[in-house]
Amino acid sequence: MNKNDIFETRLKSLQEMEDNAVNKQHLKGKLTARERLHVLFDEGTFFELDAFVSPVQAPNSSRTTNFGDGVVVGRGLVQGRSVFAYAQDFTVLGGSLGYAHGMKIAKVQDMALKLGAPVVGLMDSGGARIQEGVKSLAAYARIFKNNVRSSGIVPQISVILGPAAGGAVYSPALTDFIFMTKKTSYMFVTGPDVVKEVLNEDIDMDGLGGGDVHANKSGVAHFVSDDEEHTLLLVRKLLSYIPSNNFESLPVSHLVKSYESRQKFLNKIIPDDPNRPYDMKDIIRILVDRDTFFEVHEGFAQNILVGFARLNGKTIGIVANQPKVMAGTLDINASVKGARFVRFCDAFNIPLLILEDVPGFLPGIEQEHNGIIRNGAKLLYAFCEATVPKITVITRKAYGGAYIVMSSKNTGGDFNFAWPTAEIAVMGPAGAIKIVNKKELAQSENRAETERILTEKYKAEIANPYRAEEIGLVDEVIEPSRTRDILITAFEILSNKQYAKPERKHGSIPL
Ligand code: HXC
Repeated sequence: MNKNDIFETRLKSLQEMEDNAVNKQHLKGKLTARERLHVLFDEGTFFELDAFVSPVQAPNSSRTTNFGDGVVVGRGLVQGRSVFAYAQDFTVLGGSLGYAHGMKIAKVQDMALKLGAPVVGLMDSGGARIQEGVKSLAAYARIFKNNVRSSGIVPQISVILGPAAGGAVYSPALTDFIFMTKKTSYMFVTGPDVVKEVLNEDIDMDGLGGGDVHANKSGVAHFVSDDEEHTLLLVRKLLSYIPSNNFESLPVSHLVKSYESRQKFLNKIIPDDPNRPYDMKDIIRILVDRDTFFEVHEGFAQNILVGFARLNGKTIGIVANQPKVMAGTLDINASVKGARFVRFCDAFNIPLLILEDVPGFLPGIEQEHNGIIRNGAKLLYAFCEATVPKITVITRKAYGGAYIVMSSKNTGGDFNFAWPTAEIAVMGPAGAIKIVNKKELAQSENRAETERILTEKYKAEIANPYRAEEIGLVDEVIEPSRTRDILITAFEILSNKQYAKPERKHGSIPL
């Protein structure tokens, strides 16, 4: 064979592999690795690397049928911006990760880090390639190390589109965002068979580690959708909000549309009864540019909301208590969810808007025994540590430790605003008067009436935003309908925020 013949034969083999992949993957309701990259990237922009890399050792298989070693890697554009990606090909040795396969992934990770571009991993793999033994494990180790080295420098996104089992789950777990697709993707450390054998528990793959489980229960996945195409379009959407690296300015949209006419609605949105819930998402949608709220971790720990949005065209991160779910109390899951998001935004210079209506930390034996102290501290630590512009708006309750945690002034909040409906105090009226007015209540002939009077007095004298405003802990009590305009100005003022970090290796966050 002359050199041209070799070239042609290799191209033909590659095409045959793709045809074979189409047949196998489509039967399972899945796309092939190349089809997935086609959806992810702007038309015709994918530049493939290492297409002819072959397995270092693959018994029972010919080299020419395994070109690429089960993973397609390269670089493309998403909305015109450079992104590196790898897509595992389940039709080649089950997408299992052999040494060559692992080194291809490491190569794009290295290039992305060097060039300041995000990395998107499309995973569909049987895990470590059994035939390659320790070589395969070593390749995983290299990928994990790269994940950690890149953390906080370039965004890393994992998209699970098939199996992710055993130690293989830890690369996605080290990245910033995990996407899953319902019914066709699953993640677990040990599968249903081992669970049955060791614990005698019956469960199928979807019930153990499917998309719904990880998006709603474990919190491992940040996004879940019905099909692969939608999942990949969501990845494109996420990328439109975030910078490509920790030095790049935030992407700006020039198509700013707001709900001007709805701002007045904010003056009436807080119910008269302080115990009646309302939906914080309604407030967010009115405040930010129209249709730009992009919620992260939507199904998990719904008592706190986190997500990206645009305000006057610029990306912000939002952390908000949700009074509609568990009265917006902070529990273990909410604290961890909030802390993770705050740290991502801080690492990538995304300013934070905090919307606060929180009666406190969730009490109870279950929470205490599972470590609400240790986990609540994560959110406190994250806010205290974050040096990005931080603006808090207290819409209603801001009680006790939870007030402090939600980026209060003395934890380093740059601006703290409050609506006239804000209640800022050590605790709510019901608890406070029982402690402070214990004797008075015990001696009262009409306890209910005394309680009513004391409650009114407590609200007028203590649990309101004006005491905090008088000592500068609230910068201004604002009319709700002016909030959007004030936020735009306040973020503009903070856009040149300077900060000095003390010299140290890194802090010791209570993990
Ligand atoms: C080598 C593998 C493989 C693997 C699958 N294949 N997994 N080859 N190493 N890990 C091959 C199969 O032999 C088969 O080859 C082809 O891929 C398709 O696999 P099937 O089993 O036919 O597919 P399916 O029925 O869809 O089942 C998929 C699966 C199953 C659930 C993923 O293959 C499976 O359980 N694989 C092993 C999963 C696992 O335990 N991996 C190790 C995890 S521990 P042929 O030639 O027949 O087409 C791990 C450690 C990481 O990954 C450590 C990091 C620290």
